[in-house]
Amino acid sequence: MAKFAFILHPIVADDIARKFKFTKRWPESWKEKFVRFMPPLKVSHITGVRSEHAATEGYFVACPLTSRQLLGEVTADEAIKKIVWAGHIAERLGADIVGLGALTSVVGDAGITVAEKLKIGVTTGNSYTVATAVMASRLAAKKMGIEISEAHVVVVGATGSIGQVCARLMAKEARQLTLVARNLDRLAQITRRIGDESGITPAVTADVNASLATADIVIAVTSALDCVVDPRLLKPGAVVCDVARPRDVSEEVAKLRPDVLIVDGGVVEVPGDVNFRFNFGFPPRMSYACMAETMVLALEGKVGDYSLGRDISLEQVEEITRLAAKHGFKLAGFRSFERAVTDEKIAEIRTRAGLR
Ligand SMILES: NC(=O)c1ccc[n+]([C@@H]2O[C@H](COP(=O)([O-])OP(=O)(O)OC[C@H]3O[C@@H](n4cnc5c(N)ncnc54)[C@H](OP(=O)(O)O)[C@@H]3O)[C@@H](O)[C@H]2O)c1
Repeated sequence: MAKFAFILHPIVADDIARKFKFTKRWPESWKEKFVRFMPPLKVSHITGVRSEHAATEGYFVACPLTSRQLLGEVTADEAIKKIVWAGHIAERLGADIVGLGALTSVVGDAGITVAEKLKIGVTTGNSYTVATAVMASRLAAKKMGIEISEAHVVVVGATGSIGQVCARLMAKEARQLTLVARNLDRLAQITRRIGDESGITPAVTADVNASLATADIVIAVTSALDCVVDPRLLKPGAVVCDVARPRDVSEEVAKLRPDVLIVDGGVVEVPGDVNFRFNFGFPPRMSYACMAETMVLALEGKVGDYSLGRDISLEQVEEITRLAAKHGFKLAGFRSFERAVTDEKIAEIRTRAGLR
């Protein structure tokens, strides 16, 4: 049986108070320092992942650096060193493949250097994250009565590892596509690629706000530390699939728009009777798509490096979709800000948006 490990990090310093309760009342700056100087550690033993074809078990390993530290407050070298240290713990625990969670997959060259320094396979989990983000966006659109072939799709973070492939896939389906990121040169490159592949020319902009007013579907997948998609600017009945962690949409602001559907991207049901022994905010048996990709690869015994770097191939997205389905992983019901979104809730949103 191949085993896996998955590297987590605290999104904000407050997250460590869940594990180290004595830090609960500390000021923010103390918590930040505590996190930065903590060594990586095993968090939990994950058991019960079982498909019709195989079983696996694994570990959560924490890389104690907050989002802010990973993307700026420490150098990329320091961050990568700590991620590799966490990877060595995974090796010692007997994992054959390790997944890089949240921003540990974003820092530096998206896993390439980390993989070079570890003996076991490494994946960012981004191929299955793309697959599930696109599946969730399609399904959410359908529930809101939006035909993608008639829709304006906006991908925010469209030059990133996940966003690029979401954009390339949506280019084959949408009536109109707008790509958003801050670096216009990189946007021009992806636009040329989409033009060659699909024969359409997407609009590009660095101004997220300007792209939202006419959007029917927004796939939000930036690595921004703060929320960048303002739901107040959306038209009634629009759909947002927020894949980013930290999130791109603020829960507080989202409450002001009960007439738009905002769903979490990349939430997956795991086959078997998985026990994560760690609360990362999901109900039992559900995981992020990037965790799921790592489990799928372990179940399949495919433990070499997988989704690395910022040029994920469409073939790899297709392959992991097929393997995940083979092992019984599936898109979980819709969730929004850690709560289930029922069909009744969607009906309410449609009514508020003035849709039949
Ligand atoms: N839900 C899941 O299962 C799951 C799995 C894996 C990753 N993730 C999350 O997905 C997100 C993206 O990951 P990735 O690997 O694709 O990252 P990435 O390769 O670094 O790409 C990030 C993208 O966001 C853009 N961006 C960054 N800041 C921005 C801002 N302020 N405004 C507009 N665009 C901005 C970047 O372009 P510019 O720099 O040019 O702006 C780039 O296009 C991260 O939050 C990660 O934690 C979620």
